[in-house]
Amino acid sequence: MPITRRTFLGTAGAALATGSLLQAADDAPVRVAVIGTGGRGSDLIRALTTIDGVELVGVCDDYAPHLEQGAKYAGPQAKTFDDYRRLLDDLKPQAVVVAVPLYLHYKIAADCLSAGCDVFLEKTMCYTVAEARTLAAQVAESKRVFQVGLQRRANAIYKQAQAMIAAGMIGQVASIKAQWHRNNSWRRPVPVPKTDANWPRLERKLNWRLYKAYSAGLMAELGSHQMDVVNWFLGKHPKRVFASGGIEYFRDGREVYDNISCLYEYELNGANGKPYTVRVNYTSICNNAYEGAAELILGTKGSLYLTSAKGLLFQEKGTDVVSWEGNKDQQAADANAAIVTAGKTLKLSNDPWAHRGAPFEIDIAEGNDTRDELVSFIDHVRRRDVKTIADAAVGVDDCATILIANQSVEMGGWVPFPN
Ligand SMILES: NC(=O)c1ccc[n+]([C@@H]2O[C@H](COP(=O)([O-])OP(=O)(O)OC[C@H]3O[C@@H](n4cnc5c(N)ncnc54)[C@H](O)[C@@H]3O)[C@@H](O)[C@H]2O)c1
Repeated sequence: MPITRRTFLGTAGAALATGSLLQAADDAPVRVAVIGTGGRGSDLIRALTTIDGVELVGVCDDYAPHLEQGAKYAGPQAKTFDDYRRLLDDLKPQAVVVAVPLYLHYKIAADCLSAGCDVFLEKTMCYTVAEARTLAAQVAESKRVFQVGLQRRANAIYKQAQAMIAAGMIGQVASIKAQWHRNNSWRRPVPVPKTDANWPRLERKLNWRLYKAYSAGLMAELGSHQMDVVNWFLGKHPKRVFASGGIEYFRDGREVYDNISCLYEYELNGANGKPYTVRVNYTSICNNAYEGAAELILGTKGSLYLTSAKGLLFQEKGTDVVSWEGNKDQQAADANAAIVTAGKTLKLSNDPWAHRGAPFEIDIAEGNDTRDELVSFIDHVRRRDVKTIADAAVGVDDCATILIANQSVEMGGWVPFPN
């Protein structure tokens, strides 16, 4: 099918309509509280204050400077707590947004569900697969609305890309490359001198991401978003992974890797019904930002290059090995073999931009996917619709997908997706 601007706008419109707010069954505001008002919690609070029908009733953090910041963003109507159990008892919120360090996700989300609350839990769902599965069972039992903070599922560009892949616009997916590359240490400054008795405790509290007791490192903090996109686009979780990682540059006492490279295998069914394997290369590094954060989905008919702000489609020019010479018959192809070996293929592959041609851009105005994922969550809360855009099943698959990569680094060798 030729891809025109109209085709793009048409599918984009359909994708957006699916994500649009349906009429709420009950117009009373949803009483929401936020637990964890650090970096992400503050973003979520600011987004919540812009959503109609949300009453932000309380915020909680056990670190005073962060609680103060969260309270400022939330506004004077929000009560403040340093103990989340007191918040749950006193306010009995309908929904709770949880943005605490990874190792606390399970405990706090489980307590919120037990208190009868709907839960929006930041990614990665849990610190272990066992916790994620136990939490998913509790969600199902409780009939509460539950969503994991995987905001690309609310991003119009990714929704459009997913629809394009499902419609066959890039053909059969051949391979995927994704990365999150940055150039910074991830380390946060500690607001007391190193000689202060509180320094060690505060350092670990603020830099929880760097220590294995609290964090699953780059895969949980960054890879979880992108491997969720892969699971979503391919419609399943991987079969197995092989990964290598280490601390090669930021040798500053951290315990989590400062770089990791993963090779995932997904077993899919081809157009002819025959099974085939898609290999996904995922890398994350902290000391070079050239490639940034993006996913490249390579298909037999085209390639999609995706970031949170931009989606590009490159159409394949043809599949004939020597078609660039314009020769179709075998004799000409044989003649070309000599030229190919003489270096013309090298010339072609050395100039990928010439091969790619000008891309089509997914024509969707830039949105705010953090706000959009919360709009969707609140909508599901109001309609009592437990099939959220990133429900517990999505969260469990994502959690297992990224944790087996860390396991592979530690153990060496391939690690299967856990049964
Ligand atoms: N979806 C995204 O794009 C995105 C972006 C950043 C972070 N995150 C996720 O959000 C979560 C928090 O990350 P962050 O960057 O905001 O970390 P952070 O350290 O800035 O904030 C975490 C907050 O939780 C508080 N906290 C810890 N224990 C608590 C307890 N028992 N009760 C109440 N508060 C407690 C801490 O004091 C801190 O203020 C992580 O799971 C992270 O992966 C998601």
